[in-house]
Amino acid sequence: MSQSKQRIGILTSGGDCPGLNAVIRGATKAARQLGYECIGFHKGYEGLVDPVSYMTLSDRNTSGILTQGGTILGSTNKGRFAATKGVDQRLSIDPELLRGVAQTVEQLNICGLVCVGGDGSLAIAQQFHEFGIPVVGVPKTIDNDLSATAYTFGFDSAVTCATDALDRLHTTAASHERIMVLEVMGRHAGWIALNAGIAGGGDVILIPEIAWNFENVCQKVLERDAMGKRFTLVVVAEGAELPGGETVVQESEQQDRQTRLGGIGNVVAAELERRLRRETRTAVLGHLQRGGPPTTFDRVLATQYGAHAVRLVYQRRFGEMICYHPPAMDSVPITAAIHRLSQVDPEGAAVQAARALGISFGDRSADQIASDLAKWSAPTSHEVAGDDETAVDRTVDQAEAALEAALAE
Ligand code: F6P
Repeated sequence: MSQSKQRIGILTSGGDCPGLNAVIRGATKAARQLGYECIGFHKGYEGLVDPVSYMTLSDRNTSGILTQGGTILGSTNKGRFAATKGVDQRLSIDPELLRGVAQTVEQLNICGLVCVGGDGSLAIAQQFHEFGIPVVGVPKTIDNDLSATAYTFGFDSAVTCATDALDRLHTTAASHERIMVLEVMGRHAGWIALNAGIAGGGDVILIPEIAWNFENVCQKVLERDAMGKRFTLVVVAEGAELPGGETVVQESEQQDRQTRLGGIGNVVAAELERRLRRETRTAVLGHLQRGGPPTTFDRVLATQYGAHAVRLVYQRRFGEMICYHPPAMDSVPITAAIHRLSQVDPEGAAVQAARALGISFGDRSADQIASDLAKWSAPTSHEVAGDDETAVDRTVDQAEAALEAALAE
């Protein structure tokens, strides 16, 4: 390689997820087409300085990685470059480290650094940008909690994994007439739980965005019993709050680590068993959601992210992050992407559809559910000729009668 050839650097930072290799491959191929050489830094931001550690990325060593989970470059969560504490408290990166990175970038003839990461990792990229290091961002996380993009890659693969788990739990729950509680990841967003719950036929979905109580969950189990369905699938997001408002954690926040959520599945299962005297089991999916090959959707999304990140470098749009606003690949300033959690809209279409199917979010009694459903499905006032109040009332009565009949069976 002639030293004058311009290079694009790429790194993968934070928790891994399916699709990281697809981004690396996409960026490498797109960079070559535009006349750049690509190099990949090892272990996230750590490989940038003291000691510098990288590999040249070629068609040869990125061939076949599209389908591989994990990242061939390795990753580090937090480490020396931590730029946030908790969800959004800014920590300043040591200027000595920043100077070291700037020097690496200059010495290796890097014209743009593609930083692939979630909220915390993109906050590091933002401080690089403020220091004058040419960076662009790519949004990654199974949690799908970055508000600047419709989807982060890795999310679809995680949902697919959780859905597969529910499919499996369904049959064993039915055989043994048990309540099965599946705990899924997602931090403070309920996207994985909501989507897997809908796709996998969950009966109860508990998420951080909707306050719930045990009475309503028990009522749902009893309602199913009354309908002859003597098993129930409960999906609970790791970040869902207990009725008292507390989250269940495995490890509290440390100086260099964020809070590790986890354990709510067992708490929910134990309480349901105590109240209902019904056999209840818990499955905690954990890091299975982060491993394995990316789904087709994530391969396409991650490949597009890789290619468009190279376009941003080519266009010298530093300090920006690629984002997906279907069907377009846009970009936003990284500052607009970080510290803004995207959470499930409790009134959104997916929650409404789930409720219409009879899925409980643990926040409504059976009576409230029937009445809400009727209001939701009733014609809007301009659809109803004449007295629309009467139409709504009639639908409420019908829904309540249907529910009573189901419970009486
Ligand atoms: O942010 C991705 C994620 O998998 C979360 O869903 C989960 O809470 C966390 O990372 C787990 O982190 P770690 O791999 O450090 O245990």
